[in-house]
Amino acid sequence: MNKPIERIGISTGGGDAPGLNAVIYSVVNAAAHLGWQVVGIREGYDGLVHPDRYPDGGLIELDVEKVKNIPHLGGTLLGTTNRGNPFHSVERAPDGSTREVDRSDEVLEAFRKHQIDAHVAVGGDGSLTIALQLHKKGLRVVGVPKTIDNDLGATVATFGFSSAVSFATECIDRLHMTAQAHSRILVVEVMGRYAGWIALHTGIAGQAEAILIPEAPYDIRKVAEHLQRATNGLRQHAIVVVAEGAKPVGGGITVKSREPGRTERLGGIGERVAEELQQLTGKESRAVVLGHLLRGGSPNAQDRLLGLGFGAGAVYALNHGMDGVMVALNPPKLEFVPLEEAVKQLRLVPMDCEAVLVARALNICFGD
Ligand code: F6P
Repeated sequence: MNKPIERIGISTGGGDAPGLNAVIYSVVNAAAHLGWQVVGIREGYDGLVHPDRYPDGGLIELDVEKVKNIPHLGGTLLGTTNRGNPFHSVERAPDGSTREVDRSDEVLEAFRKHQIDAHVAVGGDGSLTIALQLHKKGLRVVGVPKTIDNDLGATVATFGFSSAVSFATECIDRLHMTAQAHSRILVVEVMGRYAGWIALHTGIAGQAEAILIPEAPYDIRKVAEHLQRATNGLRQHAIVVVAEGAKPVGGGITVKSREPGRTERLGGIGERVAEELQQLTGKESRAVVLGHLLRGGSPNAQDRLLGLGFGAGAVYALNHGMDGVMVALNPPKLEFVPLEEAVKQLRLVPMDCEAVLVARALNICFGD
């Protein structure tokens, strides 16, 4: 029989997404309503594993007053990291060499030491996999899905995605004007490592001529031919939206850098596509990388509502004895999916989904 909950610990892991602070606000308020205390863990699990790095000891006691003014803010009050996997903690020797150490027992011990009865883990597939592993070692955990890429299989939506698409669309509106003035091709690179949802939705909303996504390897010649046709008449300019994880037929993703203990950094595909299109079409082409601009900024109303809903859902789950589950949106309901299932599969763009069909009907080219 589990001890009744008196105190919970919340952490945010992986890339930030607008809506994280709304989750924190919601967890603190819903927990306070039940008489529970909430403690925030700094930067994933680093606040527990490396308390010495933080002037406040790596933990922040959270109450209703402290989180009062945060739900509308981007970023995360707790900080986050995407190199904080305690099962594969990277240690650097003075000679510059690195080795991986399993520090998961220290995390569990720290939860016990600080009398944290249960954990709300807010993260994408990487952070939720860590949460699942901690759960398997005995920690009481509820996960909250987070990724602007919107690629978690078990939930139809994650917060941050809608804000990212709105902002990217605004950027494209601006880019149309300058592209038109110079009769150029403008290639806009957006985030989307494995899944092209941001590129797809932004490309349709922003009236792009072509959208290149990881799910559909592209043939640059097909894209060039399409752009030549599309810029032959009154309209002389074109917008191409490229997800950072897009790849040519028979080719690989464009990696910017690799580092021990973290997923490879992508970037550069926009520049490459722009150069190739300039060569093939003879039209002047430029690349713009929206990158982290899509992650910063305030959550729009939809993402705020999602974050608030997921936070309240996580506390509801713990209060109803659930453990090892992730809150998921399955409209009109919030559901609770075993973490094991939730991290199994990414939600990639099916090339027969409605958005792709709409794009094709609008004569948008995928280069496939
Ligand atoms: O959260 C996922 C993501 O936005 C990916 O689309 C992107 O590859 C990655 O984060 C970038 O992370 P970082 O901020 O570490 O460069």
